[in-house]
Order: sequence, then structure tokens, then C-alpha cells
Amino acid sequence: SRQVRLAVIPGDGIGPEVVAEAVKVLDAVVDPADVQFDKTYFELGADRYLATGDTLTDDDLSAVASHDAILLGAVGGRPGDPRLAGANIERGLLLKLRFALDQYVNLRPTTIFPGVTSPLSEPGAVDFVVVREGTEGPYVGNGGVIRAGTPHEIANEVSVNTAFGVERVVRYAFEQAEKRRKKLTLVHKTNVLVNAGGLWKRVVDEVAAEHPDVAVDYLHVDAVTIFLVTDPSRFDVIVTDNLFGDIITDLAGAISGGIGLAPSGNINPDGAFPSMFEPVHGSAPDIAGQGKADPTAAILSTALLLDHLGLEDAAARVRAAVTADLERRSTGDTQARTTQQIGDAIAAGVSA
Ligand code: NAD
Ligand code: IPM
Ligand code: MN
Repeated sequence: SRQVRLAVIPGDGIGPEVVAEAVKVLDAVVDPADVQFDKTYFELGADRYLATGDTLTDDDLSAVASHDAILLGAVGGRPGDPRLAGANIERGLLLKLRFALDQYVNLRPTTIFPGVTSPLSEPGAVDFVVVREGTEGPYVGNGGVIRAGTPHEIANEVSVNTAFGVERVVRYAFEQAEKRRKKLTLVHKTNVLVNAGGLWKRVVDEVAAEHPDVAVDYLHVDAVTIFLVTDPSRFDVIVTDNLFGDIITDLAGAISGGIGLAPSGNINPDGAFPSMFEPVHGSAPDIAGQGKADPTAAILSTALLLDHLGLEDAAARVRAAVTADLERRSTGDTQARTTQQIGDAIAAGVSA
């Protein structure tokens, strides 16, 4: 049978709770005679940092990188925890992985599943995917602080956008559009961020010429937040930079019925490095340890992982089991289930 070497990083807060359910579903959906997930668990995150002072050592990085794929829960302590002052788990661990493994496509699909109550009264048929750039933008750490702590402090965080980096993610987004409803929306802020915006716009126009059947649209990032709420069914593929993509995908999660339903993949399309799958949400310190976290986002992230591994049938079974579980929730007789009960129900659904 095919062996898939899977690095598992449960992380902090609700991360381990939702990852346990995702792994349960992953093990249930494949027949070990066909595929076996050979899992290595990595204890990384705030607890490891507090115990050892390490976030992600070079040895950790090369060990993780030697796997076929990565499943991650969430990392990051309680915002404002004084013991973590000076540490930056998010940057030192999560962003370090995304950058080092060249996961330049951050794929974040949004669907309103049948039976799920969106906070929007008439959302329509919502099914779009945000292709968020994953390795550039204001996330690169290009900047610094001058005269720190003084009234004259200057704090710079310079967005880096390369023609190479923009073109490869825009090409990926057009390929997605070709496979979907053939509509692509660039989201940026070209009216103010003229340098980066100009590059994004030019690259989209150039690549669009190679895809005459894809309808191309543009929205400023502020305006896209309007239409995500008033008319979300207009979107098919949205391509955008790292920071705008971060912000609008939390909104997208909320309109789809909750951030606990939103999956993501950090993809290295060339396959030179392993791709990493994780829910869009964070470690949710406010509900950690209470069995209240919805594991659906982590479970749907395993469907993206299975797609990436070419196991599309298994991915479809995960989505079908999630769909059935969400429909059952809408009947009201499954309210207030624990994280584990939801995971058990979906795992039973995939093996049935
Ligand atoms: P968050 O996503 O952790 O939580 C925002 C809100 O959503 C909270 O009220 C939380 O209870 C709720 N929520 C999140 N996931 C849920 C789930 N599965 N089921 C039900 N409710 C859920 O965002 P935050 O509070 O801004 O960040 C908390 C920590 O997580 C911070 O340290 C942050 O840096 C980190 N973070 C990590 C990741 C990641 O690892 N990918 C992503 C986002 C935030
Ligand atoms: C996400 C998170 C991360 C991001 C943080 C924790 C670095 O918010 O995955 O959406 O901004 O990309
Ligand atoms: Mn985010």
C-alpha cells in the first residue's frame, strides 16, 4: 500500500483538540490496504517555547520538511500572555514554515453547505475560493523600528511584492478559475498602494490575455468586504496579497456559517516542498480545553490534503460526511455536541 509520511503539528489551544478529530477522520476515510498515513507528531508552539525557548529549530524544520505533507492545528498563545512577550510563535513557527517550504499559494475555499445557517439572510449559492499569496507582502519582516520607545519612534513594515512571486500565484489562480466557473476577481488597493497595486494589476492583465475565457474583475479591498456581505455568490476565484487575503478569509468564514467551518491549504504547487493543511482559525484561547471547538474546519482541511495527494475520492467522502453532519445539525437534535462527538460522527460517516 502507498505510504504517506504525514507531519502532524497539533500546536496550541484548540489546535490539538481539532487535530485529533481530523486525524480520526483521515484514518477512517482510507483503506490501509491502499494508503497508510505514517504520522510523526511535532510538539511545537507556545508550550514548547515556554519549556525550552525554541519555536522551530533548524533540526525541526528539516525533520518537518522531510515529510510528504503537513497537518497543523493552530499556534499562538493567549494574546497578551506576558510569558510570551518577546516571542513570536506565529512568525517564528507558522510563517517560518510557510516561507521556508515556499508555500506560495494559500488556498481558502468558502462554501455555504446545505442546511448551514449563514448570518446573511439571503446569501444565495456561495462557493468561492480565495487564492491568497503566501510568501510575500507585508508578512516578510522587511522593516524595523528606529528610535524605539521614544515619541519619535518610526516603525516600518514594508510590503514586498516581486514580479516572480505575483506572477506565479496569479497563474495558479487563473488555473483554478479555468477548472471552476471561469471568473477571477483581483482584490487589492490600487488607488492608494500604487506600486504594489500596479504590479498586481499589470500581472493580472498579462496573464488574463492567455485566458480569454476567464472573466476578470477587480475590487478594492474595502469594497470587497461590502460584496462579501451583500452579494457573496458573485465570487468564484479571488486572488489577493498575503495581508488582504488573511483579513477577507476570516470574513468569508464568518459568512459561511462560522470560522469553525473554514479550511485552508498552504500549497507548494511545484511539489519541491511539502504542503501544509490547517484550519483558517487560530488557537482560540477563549474556548480551549472545553471541548467546544468545532473540528469541521480541521476536518475539511484534510479533504484539501487528500485532494493534494491525488486522493480525490477520499476527499469527496470527507466532504460528503461533513455535509451530512452539517445537515443533521440544522435539524436541531445535535446541538451542543463536543469537539469529539462531532469528530466521531464525521468519522463514522466516512467509514460507513
Ligand atoms: P481565533 O481564530 O483563535 O479565534 C477567534 C474567535 O473564533 C474566538 O472567539 C474563538 O473562540 C472562535 N473560534 C476559532 N476557532 C473556532 C472553532 N474551531 N470552533 C468554534 N469557535 C472557534 O483568533 P484570535 O483570537 O485572533 O487568535 C488567537 C491566537 O491564535 C493568537 O495567538 C493568534 O496569533 C493565533 N492564530 C493562529 C493561527 C494559526 O495557527 N493558523 C490563525 C489565527 C490566529
Ligand atoms: C492565518 C493566521 C496567520 C496569518 C497568523 C497567525 C500568522 O491569522 O493563518 O490566517 O496571518 O496568516
Ligand atoms: Mn488569519
